[in-house]
Amino acid sequence: MGARGDDAVRAEAVERALARLGLDARCALLGGADMWSLPAHEAIGLGRLVMSDGPAGVRGEHWTPDDPSVALPSPTALAASWDPELVRRAGRLLAQEARRKGAHVVLAPTVNLHRTPRGGRHFEAYAEDPLLTGVIGAALVAGVQDGGVGTTPKHFTANDSETDRYTVDVTVDGTTLRELYLEPFERIVRTARPWGLMTAYNSVGGTTMSEHHELNNQVLRGEWGFDGFLVSDWTAARDTVGAANGGNDIAMPGPDTVFGARLAQAVRAGKVTEAVVESMARRVLTLAARAGLLDGAPPAVAEGALPPDVDGEALARELAARSFVLLRNDDVLPLPTRPGRIAVIGRAAARPRIGGGGSAEVFPTRLTTPLRALRDAVDGEVVYVPGPDPRERIAPAAFPLRAVLRDRSGAVLHEVGLPEGQVRWLGALPGGVAAARVGSVELRGSFTPGAGGTHQLAIRGVGEFRLAVGGRAVFDGPVLPEGSDPGAAFLNPPQRVVPVELAAGEPVDVSLVYRMPPAEGLLAVFAVVAFELGHREPVRPAEDEIAEAVAAAADADVAVVFVGTTDESESEGADRATLALPGAQDLLVSRVAAANPRTVVVVNAGAPVLMPWREEVAALLLAWFPGQEGGAALADVLTGAAEPTGRLTTTWPAADEDAPVWRVKPGADGTLPYEEGLFVGYRAWRRAGTRPAYWFGEGDGYTSWSYDELRVVPRAFDARAPYAPLAEVTVRVRNTGARRGRETVQVYLSALGDDPRRPDLTLAGFAVVEADPGEEAQARVLVPLRAAQNWDGASHAWVTRGGMRTVRAGRSVAELPLSAVLEVTPPM
Ligand code: BGC
Repeated sequence: MGARGDDAVRAEAVERALARLGLDARCALLGGADMWSLPAHEAIGLGRLVMSDGPAGVRGEHWTPDDPSVALPSPTALAASWDPELVRRAGRLLAQEARRKGAHVVLAPTVNLHRTPRGGRHFEAYAEDPLLTGVIGAALVAGVQDGGVGTTPKHFTANDSETDRYTVDVTVDGTTLRELYLEPFERIVRTARPWGLMTAYNSVGGTTMSEHHELNNQVLRGEWGFDGFLVSDWTAARDTVGAANGGNDIAMPGPDTVFGARLAQAVRAGKVTEAVVESMARRVLTLAARAGLLDGAPPAVAEGALPPDVDGEALARELAARSFVLLRNDDVLPLPTRPGRIAVIGRAAARPRIGGGGSAEVFPTRLTTPLRALRDAVDGEVVYVPGPDPRERIAPAAFPLRAVLRDRSGAVLHEVGLPEGQVRWLGALPGGVAAARVGSVELRGSFTPGAGGTHQLAIRGVGEFRLAVGGRAVFDGPVLPEGSDPGAAFLNPPQRVVPVELAAGEPVDVSLVYRMPPAEGLLAVFAVVAFELGHREPVRPAEDEIAEAVAAAADADVAVVFVGTTDESESEGADRATLALPGAQDLLVSRVAAANPRTVVVVNAGAPVLMPWREEVAALLLAWFPGQEGGAALADVLTGAAEPTGRLTTTWPAADEDAPVWRVKPGADGTLPYEEGLFVGYRAWRRAGTRPAYWFGEGDGYTSWSYDELRVVPRAFDARAPYAPLAEVTVRVRNTGARRGRETVQVYLSALGDDPRRPDLTLAGFAVVEADPGEEAQARVLVPLRAAQNWDGASHAWVTRGGMRTVRAGRSVAELPLSAVLEVTPPM
């Protein structure tokens, strides 16, 4: 049966199921049963539906190392490929992972904008530009849904920073909202038809997004024709009547939600109509039908039509290499076949951040560190020096541990190995152990101190703990939360440090027992166990650590320095105070670069950082949070086995104070005004005339390109099809270097006339081409009508003004050698 036929059969099955449900049963479908699932209803043949984070790997219901996931590079990295085909393949892998883990909906992609580089969750979104964000987001949605798994582009809308994220009220004018913050959602809804969308925590214009009738019902459903479900961000649906009438269909997590019995009561009290509940239930049943969870309804993708399975680890490696951005290369990369002695410096070489912190985190199926991968890949000596620790807080213990779950009588319920001293179980416990049965969780292991002296052990978490070293208790008591943010105890808990004297070379046993609080209220239904055992070797003065690194660099043929953010400086739940690298990393790079002219710096960060030494080093490579295969990909790129082909998706400032949009803190009235209007990212930098460190679109590979010709052919367009082409642009480029390479050809469109209220230039399309040395390639870019449309606040409509526009093409917003004229003639 064809897709149309299937749609009709599905719709009939949904109506049949709906007809068999009374008000209470309908309402029961709309609230979570637990942390991640919606309830089954056997009588109508409805299965249990599971949702799972997220954008860089599918966690499933268990956030534990015994249920690992392929950890992909951070979304900023995926977007840096500027390659929707590649991102679609990443999406298919997410669907494959979701199926493996029994999840039916992946809570991704994050398509909020990089409004300011300070956004703590920047790594999880794609770009400062709405067109690029929309194209990449649509590709991810298409890929996941190719695999018969749903998506929820999030967080709808204007959730672009983390400060006061549950309550912030964004005030933004209609034109800016439409052209920037709604634009990626509109493109994705119209072109990729996501099964769902997630409403954000924040308010827009005074109304919280889970209750935003105008944006959810009128714009999204009415204007754009969205036919999917709306799920609240976790705990974001706070009011039964507001959320139901405001367009939200599913309240998560459960079981105690604002829907279910509360919704039925609201209907009986006349505050919500039966028709509203019927539409909500219909949308949830349609979701289940698409996912193959409703008897009699064919799934959106039949078993036989699923894309072939892919090798997830190989794809993760390819994605990482394709995402790396080479920002400077003074003839030092790729390294020669026999590079001689390499000094590898910096803690991220041995302990990289493979993903950003928070709900996007997954436990990887395996991990090769950059240091290990380089040692394996190069024919030369590799010397490693860690350099000073950039973290203030003590990191989770880096030795292997076991977690032992016991009941209240002390009997062992389950044991699981942990790669490091961090427990973050949310929604389910390892081994499927019921949270209510657990009396305590013990982390235990042993390590052999490399250095004698004062070691620091640390407990991080909230609750009752007992820490013992060599069988002797060194801490026993409560660790209390700081502040009152409900999410902070989980996302940013306090740390208690206990110094202990240890001798070098003598193994010590360590045990940290967390006493589970009584399983009452929410804890009775779903588990939240989150704490860390930290460990730090005796701290040496940063000067000594740097001197050791400098000596190793001076003695080497090439120095590769790893720098980056830490989970303290870049994570979900908080915005960044500064873009500066934490600790003494700037000093480390400058001193190493002074000692060795062949210094390569690798940046392990999900978002912009300041690099005051950038002109002092021979090469600079951004590796993002590169996922579990990042080490291998890095070795591929440093040795030249792969070309780094990423391009920046956001402009990187040279100093905090240069960033055109900086404010993330709401005022005393709770509002955060987007007073910059349309001027974010390169749009703002161009107006300000300030030079950033690196522009949107920048990045080199291992070859060079000439831009030879630009042709623009206008197409007839229909004002109702904003993503259909307005013009076909062809850009002829030539590989002028010595090796095969890949280039991202970017096309921008000028504003009409010189209206100072509008950005002078915006991205209108792009395409990736490949060519051998000396060979030409043609990039074909379809410029969508939307690129030439403006939202007119007065008439509340998109308008396409006729007139002459300049089309420009090149390698970045700052390097556009070709231009041509496009005459736009709107239809009569
Ligand atoms: C995040 C969402 C995530 C959800 C479930 C929220 O705090 O904002 O992006 O999908 O938690 O983990």
